[in-house]
Amino acid sequence: MKTVNAKVVDQVAIIERRVAELLGRMTLDEKIGQMSQVNASEAGAPEYLGMALRDGRIGSVLNQVDVATVNELQRISVEESRLGIPLLVGRDVIHGFKTVMPIPLGQAATWNPELVRNGARVAAIEAQAAGINWTFAPMIDIARDPRWGRIAESFGEDPYLTGRLGVAMIEGFQGDDLAGDGSIAACAKHFAGYGAAESGRDYATTNIPENELRNVYLPPFNEAVGAGVATLMASFSDLNGVPATANRFLMRDILRDEWGFTGFVVSDWESIHQIAVHGLTSGDRDSAYEAATAGIDMEMASDAYSNHLAGLVIGERIDIDTIDTAVANILRIKFRLGLFGAPYVDPDQTPAMDLEAKLRVAKQSALESMILLKNDQAALPLSIDRVDSIAVVGPLADAPYEQLGTWVFDGDPDLSITGLAGIRNLVGDSVDIRYVRAMETSRSRSTDTFSEAVEVAQGSDAVILFLGEESILSGEAHSRADISLPGAQAALVRSIRQTGKPVIAVILAGRPLTLTDIVDDVDAILFAWHPGTMGGEAIADLLFGVESPSGKLPATFPREVGQIPIYYNQKNTGKPPSPNTVTNMDDIDAHAPQTSLGMTAFHLDVAYTPLFAFGHGLSYGEFSYDNLRLSPQELRIGNSLTVHVEVANLGKMIADEVVQLYVRDLVGNVTRPVRELKGFKRVRLEPGQTVTVSFELHTDDLAFFGRDNSLMTEPGVFHLWVGGSSEASLHSEFRVVDAAH
Ligand code: NOJ
Repeated sequence: MKTVNAKVVDQVAIIERRVAELLGRMTLDEKIGQMSQVNASEAGAPEYLGMALRDGRIGSVLNQVDVATVNELQRISVEESRLGIPLLVGRDVIHGFKTVMPIPLGQAATWNPELVRNGARVAAIEAQAAGINWTFAPMIDIARDPRWGRIAESFGEDPYLTGRLGVAMIEGFQGDDLAGDGSIAACAKHFAGYGAAESGRDYATTNIPENELRNVYLPPFNEAVGAGVATLMASFSDLNGVPATANRFLMRDILRDEWGFTGFVVSDWESIHQIAVHGLTSGDRDSAYEAATAGIDMEMASDAYSNHLAGLVIGERIDIDTIDTAVANILRIKFRLGLFGAPYVDPDQTPAMDLEAKLRVAKQSALESMILLKNDQAALPLSIDRVDSIAVVGPLADAPYEQLGTWVFDGDPDLSITGLAGIRNLVGDSVDIRYVRAMETSRSRSTDTFSEAVEVAQGSDAVILFLGEESILSGEAHSRADISLPGAQAALVRSIRQTGKPVIAVILAGRPLTLTDIVDDVDAILFAWHPGTMGGEAIADLLFGVESPSGKLPATFPREVGQIPIYYNQKNTGKPPSPNTVTNMDDIDAHAPQTSLGMTAFHLDVAYTPLFAFGHGLSYGEFSYDNLRLSPQELRIGNSLTVHVEVANLGKMIADEVVQLYVRDLVGNVTRPVRELKGFKRVRLEPGQTVTVSFELHTDDLAFFGRDNSLMTEPGVFHLWVGGSSEASLHSEFRVVDAAH
């Protein structure tokens, strides 16, 4: 009997044979057709694309979700073109299709790979029924700048968390078998460094030294490739002077030669055409040359390939092997998807998942994504028995579309349960819920209706303020320079504060916000991101203690925009700040002489710490960490150590805690971060329960890219912390010694 591995090898060999055989029958124009992806979103796609499909001049379409139209496009390609090659049908299915999960940054706050996997599975099942066989997700760009609108689509600032969740999302989309029911091809994007856009302006230049690229920005992509992601998308941005779309170092040296990627790379929307706009070439012809030779297999939306590749091959500037390799990469994925055998979609035959089951995943994801940032005097949970009336105030309390967040082309706002609806459904008749919108949108500047809100608040036992950003304020091309609450929201908070009532802020947003100007004027903050379809039910359950909040921050919350970039895994510097060295600008004497003695890496006008640290998130449980044990405490390179820690819930409520493990490599061939996340586990604890949580840490997990940019594991002393945030204080240390020691 054959082993599973032998079967996989057979399948790979069969597909390679079929790819080679098909390639051998293709004309140059048909090959270039496979490398061209066309927008099919307008009505009448079969008519206006028909001729090109029949001629084999299109390999993929995007943005068509009418299944009958998709089937017709497939039919023309399969039955009326010479070689009958089926189409890849792409769509941005980013955090759900009809049923919308929290934005990816919210999903990252769950620190729950299984939930992320399940959410992607729901999305894949729904998208497949609409004829989609390829999604442009996950986005695994490291995002350390909350001004960047696309931080919403990311898993945050940390390479380890991003890698784990990116792999989970890929597994959810692709399943065990790309050709399986309910599987669609995933696309890891944007390769690479897109999140490092200068000042968080989307599309702006990035300059990332190779060492940082390798240690921070590339690891999640490497893991995605290891997990079998079918495709990658190149970034719009210019990386160190060469646009990513023309970057051979990224796509040839690293992706193919070092990582052995066998799928294909798609450009971003018109990003080949934009190579000239960047100023690397003088026009589409040279851009097509640069992109094709750098390793872009398929062009999205623009027509540099269809207009110029043939000429470049005939003129002998591009070798036919370059074209053949690109086409083979694309065909390989089409075969793996099983499209040649089953090009059409019958929505009645695609795997069904009942609505209830999908909504359950969306709700669980929303529940685990929300973060209790602050909870003074146990203001939360609210007790139905102790309040008779609650004022629900704010522009985002009852906004079914806004709570879905960015990139929800197909999301169904009619399915949304808003915060207001969730609260009303939960409390029924037992609490009088009085709703005042107070602001038309999150950006409104008018304070005209504040008096009504204040009056209603005054007559109520507590106030729940729904604040934040509408969905359109984050996402692609929606970066902000000021990331505080927009419009008159801070003024609204101050007005409500004056009533003296308990004030609970529920914040819906697509990014970390600077909350410095409101944080002291509210008793509690539940940060809900854009929580998706089931956001309102989750908010209600958390506010009233049906469940305990358990989300943890996947990105640092700065106090002021001027602190950005601020992230937990920074370098120590030669003059690290500490609580003892903090000064205050107001304390500096007039005409004080210039001095740097005793000064460290901080700003004079703001604390060096963030407002809320990476990994932070409060709970209605009360967790204590104790008895941290490492075994062994000295290990040879190539071995593992085990970390045990006891976690107890001393509180009165059952609650989840995300136990986090950080290390610091004290001395390195290149300087190492002050802390790095190396493991996490979500555990559920009854009141009074203690569990032992264990982690395995291999010396490979400590490897990093050194001065010569090769991967190395060094002997030396490491500090280790375990706790509920990146500020965990329970610590120990261990030593790694040479294998021969
Ligand atoms: C541009 C975006 O950058 C990319 O992420 C997206 O997948 C494509 N457009 C397709 O819509």
